[in-house]
Amino acid sequence: MTRHFIAIEQLGEVDLATIYDRAVSPFDDETLKGQGVALVFERPSLRTRASSSSAVHELGGYTTFFSDEEIGLDSRESAEDVGRTLGEMYAIAALRVRHHTVFDRMRHATSERMSLINLLSDEAHPTQAVADVLTLAEHFGGGDVRQLAGLEVAYVGDATNVTRSLAVALLRLGVNVNVGAPAQYQLTPGGAEDPADVIGGGVLRLTDSPHDAVKNVDVIYTDAWVSMGKEDETSLRRGQLAGFRVDRALMNEARKEAVLLHCLPAHRGDEIADEVLDGPNSLVWRQVFHRRSAMIGVLRWIKEENE
Ligand code: CP
Ligand code: NVA
Repeated sequence: MTRHFIAIEQLGEVDLATIYDRAVSPFDDETLKGQGVALVFERPSLRTRASSSSAVHELGGYTTFFSDEEIGLDSRESAEDVGRTLGEMYAIAALRVRHHTVFDRMRHATSERMSLINLLSDEAHPTQAVADVLTLAEHFGGGDVRQLAGLEVAYVGDATNVTRSLAVALLRLGVNVNVGAPAQYQLTPGGAEDPADVIGGGVLRLTDSPHDAVKNVDVIYTDAWVSMGKEDETSLRRGQLAGFRVDRALMNEARKEAVLLHCLPAHRGDEIADEVLDGPNSLVWRQVFHRRSAMIGVLRWIKEENE
């Protein structure tokens, strides 16, 4: 059966464990030898495009990049027809989309013939979550994701697509997750990647206090206050989220050795202070490093089943 990587929520335990394993196990294989992967970006990207391109190349394949200006998903032609077209030439398409529903539409339009990878949607950012788990496993678990159970992680700020995939991935590993956000920016039920759906594993706690969220945690994570597509709300969000900036004072309320994660790009002076982002407890560049490993894990997992 064709494998897709669209939301952490949809993956079984064995699949997730395989992805984490394949991400870091030595790869001298040429899993994608001579094969193309279509990269479709409806929104800007640095890390995701770089890590996807280099991961495919590392596995012997090549990528073709399509920007929104060229393709015009649902403006130049329908997402279904874009999917059908790509499906005639590529076995795998990786997409950054405005609307998560595009994935289901393309799956149906192509009769599941082409594997789809979610490179960020309005609801989920699962390749980022894999990289975040690998980063934490490297720091806290000697590289073993199973050692993360019992860790305390606080997410502070706007609860975004990144928050949702991160929380699902961590809860499933037995990590406890606090989300500190003003009520209107807090996680909402439903959607493609709902942490409330995780049964068992870690405990999810929602609070409107950044201070309660970070008390005694091992990790503080934050993301943009103004996600892509929300630019019109910039000044409103800056006002409403001002008390949720991760700075040294907030870090000092966590455990002494607590580390900082941020998916990047960072908006220095908004959600994150320089002193923390550039400080000794910042793991943000290890997260960037693991973006490529995460893609390698996902691609190898997809190819194992498709072969
Ligand atoms: N973290 C992340 O996805 O970065 P880009 O938007 O630059 O790809
Ligand atoms: N929440 C951010 C993540 C960027 C990687 C956004 O959607 O813009």
